[in-house]
Amino acid sequence: MDQVKIFDTTLRDGEQSPGCSMNLKEKIEIARCLEKLKVDVIEAGFAIVSPGDFESVKTISETVKDCTVASLARATVKDIDAAWEAVKGAADPRIHVFIATSPLHMEYKLRMKPEEVLEQAGKMVAYAKKFCSNIEFSAEDATRSDLDFLSRVTEIAIANGATTINLPDTVGYTTPGEMRHLIEYVRAHAAGSEKAIFSVHCHNDLGMATSNSLAGVLGGARQIECTINGLGERAGNTALEEVVMAIHTRQDTYNVETRIDTTQIYRSSKTVYNIIGQTAPLNKAIVGKNAFAHEAGIHQHGVLANKKTYEIMTPEAVGIVANNLVLGKHSGRHAFTQRIEELGYTLTKEEIDRCFEEFKDVCDKKKNITDADLEAIVTHHTANLIQEVDENGYVLDWFQTSTSNFTTATCTVSLKKDEEKFQAVALGDGPIDAAFNAIDQIIKPSEHSFDIFSINSISEGKDTLGDVTVKISSHNKTFTGRGLSTDIIEASVNAYLTAMNRLAAYEAKAKEAE
Ligand code: KIV
Ligand code: ZN
Repeated sequence: MDQVKIFDTTLRDGEQSPGCSMNLKEKIEIARCLEKLKVDVIEAGFAIVSPGDFESVKTISETVKDCTVASLARATVKDIDAAWEAVKGAADPRIHVFIATSPLHMEYKLRMKPEEVLEQAGKMVAYAKKFCSNIEFSAEDATRSDLDFLSRVTEIAIANGATTINLPDTVGYTTPGEMRHLIEYVRAHAAGSEKAIFSVHCHNDLGMATSNSLAGVLGGARQIECTINGLGERAGNTALEEVVMAIHTRQDTYNVETRIDTTQIYRSSKTVYNIIGQTAPLNKAIVGKNAFAHEAGIHQHGVLANKKTYEIMTPEAVGIVANNLVLGKHSGRHAFTQRIEELGYTLTKEEIDRCFEEFKDVCDKKKNITDADLEAIVTHHTANLIQEVDENGYVLDWFQTSTSNFTTATCTVSLKKDEEKFQAVALGDGPIDAAFNAIDQIIKPSEHSFDIFSINSISEGKDTLGDVTVKISSHNKTFTGRGLSTDIIEASVNAYLTAMNRLAAYEAKAKEAE
């Protein structure tokens, strides 16, 4: 059976989307996840964009051993130089060169004539090839390009050394029939096409990214570019979990396979959502909470009689482990550790110690601890590790709020720092705003924007844990804080404090460096 390569661009196209920017440690954590998932290619970033992007592509290149690592580059010498410098330490480096080929993009964005685009594409692929044997060429906005022009640029790219030809649906405009035709047409009309692997890269503006990518496979594409959870600009990119499970479940139709370890899908999805401070929509295909839930009586009856009546794939296939063990106050460390391992997490002894401590705290407030609670405890702990909680920052001592639907909320907050205590009281639009205002009075933060504040409930029931994410930005950097508690005000205060402490630590470091 033919293999389809899975090219993951969560760290480049995904990270480009608003609210999804990540720091270096977060990117490395995701790269490790992608390696475990066994993607073929990790597009680690766009090296020329900033020193931070360069650094992360370089670090990921030096960290990942079992996947190709690519950097994006426009078809210019400067971009290609930066891309090569960043990926050259990889076990299998790739330079991904792109230029737009649609009449609209060539005229209004590039301000280049079609002939100039052809020449630049050829010259720059040849330039990249001097450094690296593995070259991908992308014809940006391919789905709105003239098919014969696309065939010409493809044959020039291949003649100059491109080994992968990517034909992206940059604006999410195409349809499955058109996508299949486009791949078939270019493969049939570009001289040398048999020497390259054809690739699809679809955006989801019309909700067709998955279908379009799979149609590309039917047309002969053997690489799919995608992101975990379909992250990406506007409506996102093709979701990795969707195309992989479609190929896996419908081999009768696609007759191809991937090397993905599907049992890592759920955990990878969780890791990415956790890092960007979001959760899967309940009905999200493959990884949403309801994706394998059968509530309607008629469905339950069928599933009990024979799972295949309503289940086209098993939750276990994507790494959702059936839970027959509920943990609680009396559960010991052994049961806790065993369940964490069954859920797919590998923690060090110190990490287990800290998570077990938090688990015991949660048990005091909540009777039954579900897998979702356990995962929240672990991912919350790892997120704080990745984001480097400032041990010398402010910590919550206590808070007290007073609120009603007919008075202004007030909150008194007491914070501790190096054994010194600080207290402040403030009003606000609700108790959380009041708590944040009180914290601001103590910390006196420098100017920042408040980008994300989200509260998610972890499990069912009124005593559910609230998982709060706060993202603030300052100095062109994002600072994230997470808080987890059955009390959402406490969770919010802890999340806000963590983000603020990180901002303060960053400023202190910058001052020291001056
Ligand atoms: O959407 C797109 O066209 C891209 C290319 C740069 C590959 O992301
Ligand atoms: Zn894209």
